Amino acid sequence: MNFKEKIRVIPDFPSPGIRFKDITTLLKDGPAFHAAIAEFTKFAEERKADLIAGPESRGFVLAAPMAFAMQKGFIPVRKPGKLPHETISVDYSLEYGKDSLEIHTDAIQPGQRVIIADDLLATGGTIGSTIQLVEKLGGIVVGVCFLTELTYLNGREKLQGYDVFSLIQY
Ligand code: PRP
Ligand code: MG
Repeated sequence: MNFKEKIRVIPDFPSPGIRFKDITTLLKDGPAFHAAIAEFTKFAEERKADLIAGPESRGFVLAAPMAFAMQKGFIPVRKPGKLPHETISVDYSLEYGKDSLEIHTDAIQPGQRVIIADDLLATGGTIGSTIQLVEKLGGIVVGVCFLTELTYLNGREKLQGYDVFSLIQY
């Protein structure tokens, strides 16, 4: 499967100079979506994952079907104020300003093996925060997987020591 040809690149979105990697064209292609999830599932099964975590919102689209296929649990990592039970949070910086992500404190038991999935590795801020949340709860991050990776932003440097898999590189 040539996954790269399934991604639509939108110039100057959401701001001038940005070449947005639109995954909706891959998601609406049934065999391509299935094949992408199958690759991620293989990666996660080889690492004996107990749980699959995904950061809101595009991470949900990948992590949830992986968990379903593997008959493992899905853990949502959410933007602030969305999770109803007790949470912990981590701040991360954006190009302009900062944001934070939250996880339920009872989402993961110490020692559980967790795979994190998201659509895109850019600066690594989102995934770095997600890793911190999982580790604060005692989870072991046994791998992280992405549909696309913008290698020129060097997000992978923030993920040294982790097992990182991306399907498509730019
Ligand atoms: C996008 C994308 C990744 C993140 C990658 O999410 O879905 O999660 O940015 O960028 P980074 O590596 O620099 O953190 P966004 O925050 O735009 O939200 P969304 O998933 O809800 O669309
Ligand atoms: Mg996202």
